[in-house]
Parts: sequence; C-alpha cells; structure tokens
Amino acid sequence: MPEATAAQDYSWVDDLAGVDLDELSNLYRIAPLGDKPPQALRTVFYNSRYLCFVYAGDRLVAAGRALADGLDCAYLADIAVHPDHQGKGLGREVIARLIARCRGHKKILLYANPGTEDFYRRQGFLPMKTAMAIWRDPGTAIRNGLLEP
Ligand SMILES: CC(C)(COP(=O)(O)OP(=O)(O)OC[C@H]1O[C@@H](n2cnc3c(N)ncnc32)[C@H](O)[C@@H]1OP(=O)(O)O)[C@@H](O)C(=O)NCCC(=O)NCCS
Repeated sequence: MPEATAAQDYSWVDDLAGVDLDELSNLYRIAPLGDKPPQALRTVFYNSRYLCFVYAGDRLVAAGRALADGLDCAYLADIAVHPDHQGKGLGREVIARLIARCRGHKKILLYANPGTEDFYRRQGFLPMKTAMAIWRDPGTAIRNGLLEP
C-alpha cells in the first residue's frame, strides 16, 4: 500500500525542537504554500498543540500542524509536501496523524487551498455551509479564491 511505503521510508517528528525554521520556510515556498518567514513559523508552530514533520534522511519534506482546545474544536493548518515527494501518500498520512491526535474533538476544521478540496474530501472533510472568517487582508484572500466578497 502506498501509505505504508511512505510511512516506512520517512521519519516522523512531532515536536519543534530540532526543526530548522529556514528549511521549514523553504518547504512552504517550494510546495508552494506561500511566504512564511521563519520567525512567524516559530510563533505559529510553538502555539499549536499538535505538530507533524516528515524527513527523508535529514531533509524536511512535509509538515503540518493543528491548533486544538482539547475538547470542542481543532483546526488543521500549514499542510504541505515538497514537490519531489508529492503523490506518495505523505499528505494523506500527515492529515491522518493530525486527525488521530485531534480525535475526541467535536469538530476538526480547515480551509482548503483552492484545488485541494477533493484531497481533503478523501480524508473525510465535508464543506462547511456557514463558515465565515475575518481576514486581516481580505482583498488578497478574495483574489486567491479563499473568501467571497
Ligand atoms: C495538497 C498536498 C498536501 C497533497 O500531498 P501529497 O503527498 O501530494 O498527496 P498524497 O500523495 O497523500 O495524496 C493522497 C490522495 O489525494 C489525491 N490528491 C493529491 N493532491 C490532490 C489534489 N490537489 N486534489 C485532489 N486530489 C489530490 C492523490 O491523488 C491521492 O489519491 P489516492 O488516494 O487515490 O491515491 C500537496 O500536493 C501540497 O503540498 N500541495 C501544495 C500546498 C498545498 O496546497 N497544501 C494544502 C494547503 S490547504
């Protein structure tokens, strides 16, 4: 099974201690998932309850994180796989591991990058009918297809 191969060929890390934040920032730039400066990544990963990093040898090739309140609501964010390692089941496994750690929460939320909705549907996510958000820069989010004006 592809996911079993992925899990065996890669090493999985769930804490921030040894993570090179420049390498993490580079992963998001290449994936691509946007410009995420290392210091900003330190803040958001440090403040997240569950973390997932995937290494091929000593190279960081995938990551993700979840905010969670311990009972009601968890939120998955910053899921990305290096292009050289996409299509091998790593994204699915990152999601599966974060969901497993969020189990017990009443709901697990995320917003999908446009074009990845079917990827998340396959992991069990359904579109939210009434989801709404306040964005610091709504114009960019509207242009990127994340918000409706
Ligand atoms: C989206 C992303 C995380 C998927 O990771 P991945 O490791 O390539 O995906 P997997 O190999 O685990 O794919 C699992 C399944 O989802 C499918 N899939 C992958 N990307 C998909 C997409 N964009 N749309 C629909 N299906 C997708 C795969 O074909 C596979 O299907 P299968 O179960 O029939 O084999 C990765 O492509 C990525 O990092 N993209 C850029 C950043 C991004 O958009 N992140 C999401 C932020 S919300």
